[in-house]
Amino acid sequence: MRQIDKAVMALMAAACATAAAAGPDYAKMAHDMLSSDFRSKGPATVERVVQQDEVQKICSEQPAARSKKVDAKIEASQLKTIVYPADGVWLGKWEEGEKIAQNGRGMQSSDAVGSVNGGNCYACHQLRKDEISFGNIGPSLYQYGKLRGTSPEIVRYTWGKIFNSQAFRACSSMPRFGHNGILTEAQIRDVMALLLDPASPVNQ
Ligand code: HEC
Repeated sequence: MRQIDKAVMALMAAACATAAAAGPDYAKMAHDMLSSDFRSKGPATVERVVQQDEVQKICSEQPAARSKKVDAKIEASQLKTIVYPADGVWLGKWEEGEKIAQNGRGMQSSDAVGSVNGGNCYACHQLRKDEISFGNIGPSLYQYGKLRGTSPEIVRYTWGKIFNSQAFRACSSMPRFGHNGILTEAQIRDVMALLLDPASPVNQ
């Protein structure tokens, strides 16, 4: 999720918390304000902010009120959304995966409609050792394949995690790359290779 989206979510969550205590429907006011004052530009559409799916709504509106039961429900519903590769080909080219992981473009107001999105994995994860610029919102994925192995279970889990991170952690801050159409199946394959191919720099 980009900075602007995060700021908007924080605003909405704060508005909800205040509304619960006070009375006026601040959540609705915030929603109305966003709907009327934000303008769509290119692939950055207002709908993405004001029309959240059910899960995103729960994650945005009730961060404190969420119980283990709610989380389990979210994860079960998200698990059902995962589309695994029908042809049984799980890994593409790690070289392409590296480019996708480095690419932070896509779905922004300055991008052309229909342009290819990046995965921006380095914004949150360390992946290869010789890349010194990376974020640490997520755990380091350096030597991911070397440490986890490439059993069918790990391969399937990794695909699922990339496709819909919330299937394994409700309200994860990791984007739901496949579910939300950010990355294509071919791109997910390439990122999978980056994580799991023994020849990938991630596993050196
Ligand atoms: C906005 C931050 C963010 C981005 C971007 C992001 N991730 Fe994550 N990722 C996380 C967080 C946070 C976790 C750990 C919490 C969780 O499981 O959701 C995580 C967990 C993971 C895991 C599970 C690790 C484990 O130990 O099981 C994998 C695999 C992963 N990410 C791969 C990727 C790949 C590949 C990309 C790029 C296509 C990516 N992530 C992009 C935040 C991010």
